Amino acid sequence: MSHAPTDDIRIGQITHQWAQVQKLKSFFREELDSTNALAKKEAFEPVAFDENVILYLTENQTAGRGRGSNTWSSSTIGSQLFSTWSFLLEKTPLPTLSPLIGLAIYRAALASWPFLEWNLKAPNDLYIDDKKVAGLLIETVSQGQDLRLLIGFGFNVFSAPAEIKLATSLAHELPPETPLLAEDWIAFLERILFELSLALQWGFEPLNTTARTALVSALNLHPHLKEEYVSLDAAGNLATASKKILWSEL
Ligand code: BTN
Repeated sequence: MSHAPTDDIRIGQITHQWAQVQKLKSFFREELDSTNALAKKEAFEPVAFDENVILYLTENQTAGRGRGSNTWSSSTIGSQLFSTWSFLLEKTPLPTLSPLIGLAIYRAALASWPFLEWNLKAPNDLYIDDKKVAGLLIETVSQGQDLRLLIGFGFNVFSAPAEIKLATSLAHELPPETPLLAEDWIAFLERILFELSLALQWGFEPLNTTARTALVSALNLHPHLKEEYVSLDAAGNLATASKKILWSEL
């Protein structure tokens, strides 16, 4: 059997190493049911006390959860990012934080690989052209006054689940002369952290005009849109020429 140079790369491991260099609290397990489930379980344990950001990672997710009936489990072990970014919050964010987080991930991906056809599909799926490459599961958990935001981020880096027809991986979409480099992955992680931190700063106020326009344009880049979006208001209501759609109901 042939051995590709990327066969030995473990996305969870290198992401954990990056987090340690960044002095970011990070938990890595070879296998987990779900990083969101572990982040939820540990949200108010002493290990999480006063930690602004905690990153949960695994190489092999056996019962990954998604929005609605979606699941997000491993295809080839070590070839996808299964992560939950747990942030300490001082107050409850507005529902508009959710699209801002989608925009953050889109911006990080676009800045890292600007020659790919990145786009967003509402509510929060990241696509390359017409194929899904990443998904977000955003949850908040509270205990008394304490509140944590859990951003579950699954990203198909070297492989995509075979059972999902319209899914792809980053490596598959990269041109053959531009393979995925370790330094690009690190730059992507740094951009995610930066973009998520900005989204969190804006998540307590209505959407500003720049974020609204950026979101509409990222959504309109999706190739299979039935109807173009014409606007997004400050409260997060999307509009096409014929209807209004509440983000919270997507
Ligand atoms: C979706 O597309 O419906 C969202 C998928 C989110 C999957 C990620 S993988 C890491 C984290 N842990 C989970 O159990 N789910 C999220």
